[in-house]
Amino acid sequence: MSARIVVLVSGNGSNLQALLDASRSGVLAAQIVGVASNRDGVYALERAHGAGVEHAVVEPVEGEQRRVYDARLRDVVLAWQPDVVVLAGFMRILSSTFLDVFAGRVINVHPALPGELPGIGAIERAHEEAQAGLRTRSGVMVHLVPDEGVDSGPVLAAVEVPMVANEKFDVFANRMHAAEHHLLVGAVAAFITRLTSTQGASL
Ligand code: GRF
Repeated sequence: MSARIVVLVSGNGSNLQALLDASRSGVLAAQIVGVASNRDGVYALERAHGAGVEHAVVEPVEGEQRRVYDARLRDVVLAWQPDVVVLAGFMRILSSTFLDVFAGRVINVHPALPGELPGIGAIERAHEEAQAGLRTRSGVMVHLVPDEGVDSGPVLAAVEVPMVANEKFDVFANRMHAAEHHLLVGAVAAFITRLTSTQGASL
Protein backbone atom coordinates (compact mmCIF):
# COMPACT_ATOMS: atom_id res chain seq x y z
CA MET A 1 0.00 0.00 0.00
CA SER A 2 1.23 3.48 -0.72
CA ALA A 3 1.06 6.42 1.63
CA ARG A 4 -2.16 8.42 1.72
CA ILE A 5 -2.04 12.19 1.34
CA VAL A 6 -4.83 14.70 1.95
CA VAL A 7 -4.28 18.19 0.51
CA LEU A 8 -5.93 21.33 1.90
CA VAL A 9 -6.41 24.20 -0.53
CA SER A 10 -8.03 27.62 -0.83
CA GLY A 11 -7.49 28.76 -4.38
CA ASN A 12 -5.83 28.01 -7.68
CA GLY A 13 -4.30 24.71 -6.63
CA SER A 14 -1.12 24.73 -8.68
CA ASN A 15 0.76 23.11 -5.80
CA LEU A 16 -1.99 20.51 -5.58
CA GLN A 17 -1.54 19.90 -9.31
CA ALA A 18 2.19 19.34 -8.84
CA LEU A 19 1.41 16.70 -6.21
CA LEU A 20 -1.28 15.07 -8.38
CA ASP A 21 1.11 14.93 -11.35
CA ALA A 22 3.93 13.52 -9.23
CA SER A 23 1.64 10.89 -7.76
CA ARG A 24 0.42 9.87 -11.18
CA SER A 25 3.90 9.68 -12.68
CA GLY A 26 5.27 7.72 -9.73
CA VAL A 27 7.74 10.45 -8.68
CA LEU A 28 5.74 10.53 -5.45
CA ALA A 29 5.15 7.08 -3.99
CA ALA A 30 1.82 8.12 -2.53
CA GLN A 31 -1.76 8.65 -3.52
CA ILE A 32 -3.76 11.82 -3.07
CA VAL A 33 -6.88 10.45 -1.40
CA GLY A 34 -8.73 13.66 -0.66
CA VAL A 35 -8.76 17.40 -1.20
CA ALA A 36 -10.58 19.81 1.09
CA SER A 37 -11.11 23.50 0.46
CA ASN A 38 -12.34 26.19 2.81
CA ARG A 39 -13.74 28.03 -0.24
CA ASP A 40 -16.27 26.84 -2.75
CA GLY A 41 -15.81 27.34 -6.48
CA VAL A 42 -12.01 27.48 -6.47
CA TYR A 43 -10.03 26.01 -9.32
CA ALA A 44 -8.23 23.59 -7.01
CA LEU A 45 -11.52 21.68 -6.67
CA GLU A 46 -11.74 21.33 -10.45
CA ARG A 47 -8.21 19.97 -10.47
CA ALA A 48 -9.18 17.37 -7.86
CA HIS A 49 -12.30 16.50 -9.82
CA GLY A 50 -10.29 16.21 -13.04
CA ALA A 51 -7.89 13.82 -11.35
CA GLY A 52 -10.73 11.72 -9.97
CA VAL A 53 -9.83 12.55 -6.38
CA GLU A 54 -12.50 12.87 -3.69
CA HIS A 55 -12.97 16.46 -2.63
CA ALA A 56 -14.96 18.43 -0.13
CA VAL A 57 -15.80 22.04 0.62
CA VAL A 58 -15.65 22.90 4.29
CA GLU A 59 -16.64 26.53 4.48
CA PRO A 60 -16.71 28.43 7.74
CA VAL A 61 -20.16 29.34 8.96
CA GLU A 62 -20.73 32.93 10.02
CA GLY A 63 -19.89 33.40 13.68
CA GLU A 64 -18.44 29.93 14.01
CA GLN A 65 -15.64 29.61 16.54
CA ARG A 66 -12.33 28.66 15.02
CA ARG A 67 -12.02 25.45 16.99
CA VAL A 68 -15.49 24.37 15.94
CA TYR A 69 -14.54 24.89 12.31
CA ASP A 70 -11.25 23.07 12.86
CA ALA A 71 -13.09 20.11 14.38
CA ARG A 72 -15.38 19.90 11.35
CA LEU A 73 -12.44 20.05 8.98
CA ARG A 74 -10.53 17.51 11.08
CA ASP A 75 -13.40 15.04 10.84
CA VAL A 76 -13.65 15.41 7.06
CA VAL A 77 -9.92 14.85 6.70
CA LEU A 78 -9.85 11.97 9.19
CA ALA A 79 -12.43 10.09 7.11
CA TRP A 80 -9.82 9.88 4.33
CA GLN A 81 -7.34 8.28 6.78
CA PRO A 82 -4.30 10.24 5.67
CA ASP A 83 -0.72 9.46 6.58
CA VAL A 84 0.24 13.02 5.66
CA VAL A 85 -1.72 16.29 5.35
CA VAL A 86 -0.31 18.92 2.99
CA LEU A 87 -1.37 22.56 3.24
CA ALA A 88 -0.97 23.76 -0.33
CA GLY A 89 -2.06 27.37 -0.39
CA PHE A 90 -4.51 26.78 2.47
CA MET A 91 -5.25 30.25 3.81
CA ARG A 92 -6.32 29.53 7.38
CA ILE A 93 -4.35 29.06 10.55
CA LEU A 94 -5.11 25.68 12.06
CA SER A 95 -5.41 25.25 15.82
CA SER A 96 -4.43 22.26 17.92
CA THR A 97 -8.01 21.00 17.52
CA PHE A 98 -6.99 20.02 14.01
CA LEU A 99 -3.23 19.61 14.34
CA ASP A 100 -3.10 17.31 17.35
CA VAL A 101 -4.67 14.35 15.58
CA PHE A 102 -2.14 14.59 12.75
CA ALA A 103 0.84 15.45 14.96
CA GLY A 104 4.13 15.55 13.07
CA ARG A 105 2.40 14.85 9.77
CA VAL A 106 1.14 18.26 8.64
CA ILE A 107 3.30 19.96 5.98
CA ASN A 108 3.05 23.51 4.63
CA VAL A 109 4.63 25.25 1.65
CA HIS A 110 5.42 28.95 1.93
CA PRO A 111 6.92 31.20 -0.73
CA ALA A 112 9.67 32.71 1.39
CA LEU A 113 12.87 31.59 3.07
CA PRO A 114 12.73 30.37 6.70
CA GLY A 115 12.17 33.24 9.09
CA GLU A 116 11.28 35.72 6.33
CA LEU A 117 7.97 37.22 5.17
CA PRO A 118 5.43 35.11 7.06
CA GLY A 119 1.75 35.44 6.17
CA ILE A 120 -0.06 36.37 3.01
CA GLY A 121 1.44 38.25 0.09
CA ALA A 122 5.00 36.99 0.59
CA ILE A 123 5.76 36.98 -3.14
CA GLU A 124 4.39 40.51 -3.57
CA ARG A 125 6.33 41.78 -0.56
CA ALA A 126 9.59 40.20 -1.73
CA HIS A 127 9.13 41.83 -5.13
CA GLU A 128 8.41 45.23 -3.58
CA GLU A 129 11.48 44.97 -1.37
CA ALA A 130 13.65 44.06 -4.35
CA GLN A 131 12.28 46.99 -6.34
CA ALA A 132 13.22 49.24 -3.44
CA GLY A 133 16.75 47.83 -3.45
CA LEU A 134 16.25 46.09 -0.10
CA ARG A 135 16.47 42.46 -1.22
CA THR A 136 18.53 40.42 -3.68
CA ARG A 137 16.99 37.04 -3.10
CA SER A 138 13.91 35.32 -1.80
CA GLY A 139 12.99 31.66 -1.80
CA VAL A 140 10.61 28.93 -0.85
CA MET A 141 10.34 26.60 2.11
CA VAL A 142 8.47 23.48 3.06
CA HIS A 143 8.02 22.93 6.77
CA LEU A 144 6.15 20.96 9.39
CA VAL A 145 3.23 22.63 11.14
CA PRO A 146 3.39 21.69 14.83
CA ASP A 147 1.33 24.58 16.15
CA GLU A 148 -0.42 27.83 15.29
CA GLY A 149 2.79 29.62 14.32
CA VAL A 150 2.38 31.30 10.94
CA ASP A 151 4.75 29.90 8.33
CA SER A 152 7.13 28.68 11.01
CA GLY A 153 7.91 25.18 12.25
CA PRO A 154 10.71 22.70 11.51
CA VAL A 155 12.01 23.19 7.97
CA LEU A 156 12.00 20.14 5.71
CA ALA A 157 13.45 21.86 2.65
CA ALA A 158 14.22 25.36 1.41
CA VAL A 159 15.61 26.84 -1.77
CA GLU A 160 16.77 30.33 -2.64
CA VAL A 161 15.31 32.16 -5.61
CA PRO A 162 17.56 35.00 -6.76
CA MET A 163 15.92 38.31 -7.57
CA VAL A 164 16.54 39.81 -10.99
CA ALA A 165 16.80 43.60 -11.26
CA ASN A 166 13.67 45.24 -12.70
CA GLU A 167 11.96 41.90 -13.25
CA LYS A 168 8.21 42.18 -13.83
CA PHE A 169 6.14 40.87 -10.96
CA ASP A 170 4.43 38.16 -13.02
CA VAL A 171 7.74 36.76 -14.23
CA PHE A 172 9.11 36.67 -10.69
CA ALA A 173 5.89 35.10 -9.37
CA ASN A 174 6.09 32.40 -12.02
CA ARG A 175 9.65 31.58 -11.02
CA MET A 176 8.59 31.41 -7.37
CA HIS A 177 5.68 29.12 -8.15
CA ALA A 178 7.88 26.83 -10.21
CA ALA A 179 10.31 26.66 -7.28
CA GLU A 180 7.43 25.87 -4.92
CA HIS A 181 6.10 23.04 -7.05
CA HIS A 182 9.51 21.44 -7.38
CA LEU A 183 10.45 21.84 -3.71
CA LEU A 184 7.08 20.66 -2.40
CA VAL A 185 7.08 17.46 -4.46
CA GLY A 186 10.66 16.66 -3.45
CA ALA A 187 10.08 17.40 0.23
CA VAL A 188 6.87 15.40 0.43
CA ALA A 189 8.50 12.49 -1.42
CA ALA A 190 11.43 12.51 1.00
CA PHE A 191 9.10 12.81 3.99
CA ILE A 192 7.09 9.82 2.82
CA THR A 193 10.23 7.78 2.23
CA ARG A 194 11.22 8.45 5.86
CA LEU A 195 7.73 7.68 7.12
CA THR A 196 7.63 4.44 5.17
CA SER A 197 10.99 3.35 6.53
CA THR A 198 9.92 4.04 10.12
CA GLN A 199 6.38 2.71 9.85
CA GLY A 200 7.20 0.01 7.31
CA ALA A 201 4.39 -2.22 6.19
CA SER A 202 1.70 -0.13 7.81
CA LEU A 203 1.78 2.22 4.81
C1 GRF B 1 1.27 29.55 -3.04
O1 GRF B 1 2.20 30.54 -3.37
C2 GRF B 1 1.41 29.13 -1.61
O2 GRF B 1 2.71 28.99 -1.19
C3 GRF B 1 0.73 30.30 -0.94
O3 GRF B 1 -0.42 30.52 -1.73
C4 GRF B 1 -0.13 30.13 -3.07
C5 GRF B 1 -1.14 29.11 -3.48
O4 GRF B 1 -0.97 28.72 -4.81
N1 GRF B 1 0.47 30.05 0.45
P1 GRF B 1 -1.74 27.46 -5.39
O5 GRF B 1 -3.17 27.53 -4.90
O6 GRF B 1 -1.03 26.22 -4.96
O7 GRF B 1 -1.65 27.67 -6.88
